[in-house]
Amino acid sequence: MKQLRRIACLIFGLTLCSALGVFPASAQLNVLETSASVAAAEKSRPAAPTSPQLAEKHLNERVESLLKQMTLEEKIGQLAQYSAGSPTGPGTGRDDYGEMVAKGQVGSLLNVVGAKRTNQFQHLAVEKTRLHIPLLFGMDVIHGNRTIFPVPLGLAASFDPALVEATAQMAAAESRADGIQWVFSPMVDIARDGRWGRTIESAGEDPYLGSAMARAYVHGYQGTDLKNPQSVAACVKHFAAYGAPIAGRDYYAVDMSELRLRQFYLPTYHAAIDAGAATVMSSFNSINGVPASANPFLLVQVLRHEWGFDGMVVSDWGSVGELINHHVVSNGPDAAGKALTAGVDMDMESDLYRTRLMALVQRGDLPESVVDEAVRRVLRVKFALGLFDHPYATEGPVYQPTTEKRALARKAAEETFVLLKNDPAPGVGRALPLKPSKTIALIGPFADSKSEMLGSWTANGNPDDVVTLKAALQARLAETNGKLIYAKGTDILTDASSGFEEAVNAAKQADAVVVTLGESGSWMTGEAASRAHLDLPGNQEQLLEAVAATGKPLVLVLFDGHPLALPWAAEHVPAILEAWYPGIEAGPALADILLGTTSPSGKLVVEFPRSVGQEPLSYSQFPTGRPTGDLDLSHPPTNNPEKFRSRYIDESNSAQWPFGWGLSYTQFAYSVPTISATQISAESAMANHGTPQLKVGVDVKNIGAVASSEVVQLYVRTMVASVEQPERELKGFERITLAPGEQKHLEFPLGFEELSFYNARLERVLEPTTVQVWVGGSSEATQSAQFEITK
Ligand code: BGC
Repeated sequence: MKQLRRIACLIFGLTLCSALGVFPASAQLNVLETSASVAAAEKSRPAAPTSPQLAEKHLNERVESLLKQMTLEEKIGQLAQYSAGSPTGPGTGRDDYGEMVAKGQVGSLLNVVGAKRTNQFQHLAVEKTRLHIPLLFGMDVIHGNRTIFPVPLGLAASFDPALVEATAQMAAAESRADGIQWVFSPMVDIARDGRWGRTIESAGEDPYLGSAMARAYVHGYQGTDLKNPQSVAACVKHFAAYGAPIAGRDYYAVDMSELRLRQFYLPTYHAAIDAGAATVMSSFNSINGVPASANPFLLVQVLRHEWGFDGMVVSDWGSVGELINHHVVSNGPDAAGKALTAGVDMDMESDLYRTRLMALVQRGDLPESVVDEAVRRVLRVKFALGLFDHPYATEGPVYQPTTEKRALARKAAEETFVLLKNDPAPGVGRALPLKPSKTIALIGPFADSKSEMLGSWTANGNPDDVVTLKAALQARLAETNGKLIYAKGTDILTDASSGFEEAVNAAKQADAVVVTLGESGSWMTGEAASRAHLDLPGNQEQLLEAVAATGKPLVLVLFDGHPLALPWAAEHVPAILEAWYPGIEAGPALADILLGTTSPSGKLVVEFPRSVGQEPLSYSQFPTGRPTGDLDLSHPPTNNPEKFRSRYIDESNSAQWPFGWGLSYTQFAYSVPTISATQISAESAMANHGTPQLKVGVDVKNIGAVASSEVVQLYVRTMVASVEQPERELKGFERITLAPGEQKHLEFPLGFEELSFYNARLERVLEPTTVQVWVGGSSEATQSAQFEITK
């Protein structure tokens, strides 16, 4: 026993064990008695390694040494995770895990809020358990911890990975200060079906953009060293293809070919793993009949063998237990055995690993080596985070969003807003920007709601930190002799129209009207919030129509996490600004845009449909044997040849607003793209994977009157291929800022990475063909050029 303690102290660091009073009095005596020999042993231990390889070796040695001392029960304890705070899944909200923690039956807790509370549990783990193994605390820090930034769908609309990385970095520092060392982010699921509620947590529909965002989050959270007290371990989720459930219904089955899986859905997870993500979360859904949380193809073949991932996999909430509901097993022991064997190292919340694995091993149904492997991965993350050396958070006063944090939140919000439409309105030129010296009516349930600005997953966010649009506009207009008249008009979901009259009267008295409408961020969008209707809930559309009937210049500001189908508004409202859920600086950021201090620059990362029946909807469409070409689709196909086409008889094929779309207060002129080589060789591109084979050049000029940012986008089409390829795919983008009259030359490299595709044998290849490229401000860019790929 003495010996074990001594070894434990060597592993955890002697200073920690004694200074923190880790041992009971008698044990401390033992430590003192043996301190001379321990000190000698410490001396003879090699100095802390510095190179990554050595660090790896050192880390593995510490893991192996600890693992050797663990009983089977202690090992299994490391694989169990429980929620000890507000539940984020089906459950009781129980938080009394102290006894289990003290017995070493828990490896990780989630949803524990604040440094004080995490420390309480941590003291039990470190001081009471035999081997003093610290807990790992996880939390859904999705778009900020206390400082809440725009929701991920909005952040992606910035097309600004550096910005996203900065928000993740800030979230990491705040989390670590709270005792959270592990965030369940980024969610990199590709979302192409607007009905899916969790579209809001995604970077949208595109694998190229999604991969850039995935890397940015991982770098922001993890930094260069997980031991840094400002870094947290990222968790890439939900592996895999969780965003493609049939009919957009959350948690439902995913059915797709392996080719499409690899082409569109896997690249974002792969990008996050390549960026160094420490952990992965297996998803709820089945894929081609096999639940992802017991899926050796995904978790062993793809993740570990093909991508070389050596981090830890945690199940999603209860997804090990849900294997029974999927009817792939009939009882708890089989569920636990199947999930662990398939590669799920930690069981979140289903309590099956803790209660079932022991018997499986003892009966000989599960080799202990499988348990060992999972435990190794858990311990590696804990060591890598430095938890054995610094298990506790510093308890200080509750921190507030500082000026610096607010500045980042405001910049982030401003970059995420997408100006969908800005037509001339009666008497004012374009409806936006608003004139600050005029009377503005501000209407709708979002204008003065603090909590609704935070969106779904708010971690430790506090609505009191939010500055609303009403507050910000009031302050701004007071500076410029303008006037604000506010009327809520209606609630988010109600039939009661008693507030309409006040709203209409406000509009009548105003020079311009801003109406704020949308979905509730907390319960109409996010997890378990898929929608079969993508309209404005309740009577909001009636309110909009009533206000529009006043004939006043009208601006609609949308708050939503689904891409809404709003045909009436698209036709009748002159200006529409998509705001998503902007976070704590919602008001100031929106006021800047509405009043023209800043020009809008966000671009859509999901297509906004004309009607819900078009979903799933993507700009990256496949060819068809019966294309519509340039046919006029605005009327029913009663006559040949329009009838026998791939089209709806009652709706256009195209989106209301396409991927990449977003206006500004200026105009940009694009040159015809130039290409640095007329042809490249497939063989040489394949042999030089990482090396660009040519560059696409373009000149972009601000030809309007105000400075603005623009997201320059490059799209590619492989014209002929053995497997049909999408009509356009994003393969490059850059956010630039141009003063009026300013011009910039941009170059986008293209090589194997961008131009290759999966053939029918699932090999990534280049084939001889013509490639067409477009560069412009949306996926409907028209300026194009071509080059050839030869053998
Ligand atoms: C969600 C995950 C989340 C987990 C823990 C699940 O219901 O799907 O995204 O990380 O709960 O809160």
